[in-house]
Amino acid sequence: MSTELATGAPTFPIALRPNATPVSDDERAELLTNPGFGRVFTDNMVVAQFANGGWGDAELRAYGPVPLDPAAAAMHYAQEIFEGLKAYRQPDGGTALFRPERNAARFRHSARRLSMPEVPDELFLESIRALVEQDRAWVPEFAEGSLYIRPFMFANEPFLGVRPALSYIYAVIASPVGAYFPRGVKPVNLWLSTDRVRAVPGGTGDAKCGGNYAASLLAQSEAAEAGCEQVVFLDAVERRWVEELGGMNIFFLFDDGAAGRRLVTPPLTGSLLAGITRDSLLTLSADHGHLVEERPVSIEEWRSRAADGSLLEVFACGTAAVITPIGRVRGKDGEFVIADGEAGPVTTELRQSLLDIQYGKAPDKHNWMRAV
Ligand code: PLP
Ligand code: COI
Repeated sequence: MSTELATGAPTFPIALRPNATPVSDDERAELLTNPGFGRVFTDNMVVAQFANGGWGDAELRAYGPVPLDPAAAAMHYAQEIFEGLKAYRQPDGGTALFRPERNAARFRHSARRLSMPEVPDELFLESIRALVEQDRAWVPEFAEGSLYIRPFMFANEPFLGVRPALSYIYAVIASPVGAYFPRGVKPVNLWLSTDRVRAVPGGTGDAKCGGNYAASLLAQSEAAEAGCEQVVFLDAVERRWVEELGGMNIFFLFDDGAAGRRLVTPPLTGSLLAGITRDSLLTLSADHGHLVEERPVSIEEWRSRAADGSLLEVFACGTAAVITPIGRVRGKDGEFVIADGEAGPVTTELRQSLLDIQYGKAPDKHNWMRAV
């Protein structure tokens, strides 16, 4: 009996046909000196196709264009989802992933919401492992550098009728990255979007689908025009409750007087993304002895507590941006500053603590890291 049958878990072997002409060591070193975010890609990618009700064999092959029929459903009706996770250099020269099983589970959740086939966790995890192993030399060694991994799936059936497509491409690409925000860990300014929303109750806010990001871009452009790096979105019904940023979750540190200081993040209502960094920080904050709470925060509370001094710190968190302090909030009705507008000590401490785990410099007591 094969192992496959014995364990009951299907395995997904990846056919290895790596790039026969990878970039030279010198060229790669040059590309790795200052890669920015999401502009440089490694030599290889993994691709698998779903058709006739099942997943075909996955292949690791040279990074390059994927042929598409102009009628491919994703380009018309936006059946597309993605994930984002990172591989980090470890002190022994190896590499490790942070909680990839969480990304696998969220990818299945996103697939269900978009009426797409689920990618089995075994295929998702093995495709990432195979790509990181093959392109290990691309994992940056400079401080806070990492290999950003982007698994994604889209409908490629050439059909213009509106229904879930019958065929899909799942692929994984990887990009060596430095800081997401060009200014590094300097506090960012947020644009408070009061007339545009990112997601609605019953919509796709808690799925990681391209459409959510398309919907956020106009507000993001308005943010840039107002001198802000990111948008903060409010709930769609009351336009009152803080949800998240275009690509990050948000935390507040409130001083509740005799009740102590408390880290607060909005609850998962279904219209915001269940960030893996958010989840990890709820755990890490408790480890550090902070009181943590998931509860709604209104824009009035945010503004008034910034004014009365009981709002000590605010930060955004996500895979790409790690933890980014928020300095000020600007909107149509003016702006307000959070404390002195600088990165606060709790933000800095949590950021370092998370990075230390990810880079193998602190004990991984929650068993989050997966060596590749
Ligand atoms: N919210 C949105 C809309 C995002 O795109 C992301 C990034 O993935 C996050 C939150 C943070 O999620 P995670 O911590 O899993 O990266
Ligand atoms: C991430 O943090 O992985 C994101 O998806 C944010 C953004 C790059 C879309």
